[in-house]
Amino acid sequence: MPEIAYINGTFLPLEEAKVPVEDRGYQFADAVYEVVRTYHGRPFALDEHLARLCHSLAAVQIPLPCPVDQLKTVIGEIIRRAGFAETLVYLQISRGVAKRHRGFPEHQHPTLVLTARELPDTRHLREHGLTVITVPDNRWGRCDIKSVGLLANVLAYHAAHQAGAGDAIFVEADGTVNEATAANVFILRHGELLTPPESYRILSGITRHKILDAARAAGIPALERRVTRADLLAAEEAFLSSTTAEVVPILAVDGHPIPAGPLARRIYEQFLKMFAG
Ligand code: PDD
Repeated sequence: MPEIAYINGTFLPLEEAKVPVEDRGYQFADAVYEVVRTYHGRPFALDEHLARLCHSLAAVQIPLPCPVDQLKTVIGEIIRRAGFAETLVYLQISRGVAKRHRGFPEHQHPTLVLTARELPDTRHLREHGLTVITVPDNRWGRCDIKSVGLLANVLAYHAAHQAGAGDAIFVEADGTVNEATAANVFILRHGELLTPPESYRILSGITRHKILDAARAAGIPALERRVTRADLLAAEEAFLSSTTAEVVPILAVDGHPIPAGPLARRIYEQFLKMFAG
């Protein structure tokens, strides 16, 4: 079976998968999600993804629809059934179906949806990098929650593409760099690797953690520290990190070129050696 879905206990072809219009995920973005990839057919950093899912669920008070071990089994099973060499699993849990009203339903029956698609080929991004624009961070105040409410990210990404760039980086009014529309930001300055610290303003990326580990293992000092737009423009190198694209060099910020140096590659190679070998 190629692209497949799983909805509340049932596996089915993706094109047949449907959720009722009164699902709160659809009407209120009252849902959280995870995106997990495989390396060599095995889900990568699954425990970390499921811990972050539990953090998101707890933060928005959606009950876990089944024990975590059962989720692991379902993830393993959808990967097996899809049968791709490498798979991208999307997992979403909403507060369930209820008559449209802002209040939580009296009895919550979360909707659990998974999809399995072939992992997209993102090699060209890693090899050639992309340009970015900076945009004001107009998202809500809990970006640490992996909420499906991504309209600000969608609009920022669109603005980047309209400007001829590959992505947008959210920046606070005081110049603080937060993250890109679906990736964390790293810069190299004075030989140190810097990434914005965990806070309500960023999603704590699983790849971000692994990159910090990989950089330190490669002997590169790696610090979680405030990064400003000025730091970004003056960076010796800069890159984005995410599950799907891994490590993507930033070539230019708002039209200012950033050197595409060897460090991103060295860190990526270390990352592969440590986690994807
Ligand atoms: N997005 N920041 C944001 C806003 C993200 O959406 C993501 C990932 C990341 C990187 O997190 P991780 O390394 O755990 O993938 C940071 C996923 C891939 C997505 O929405 O498709």
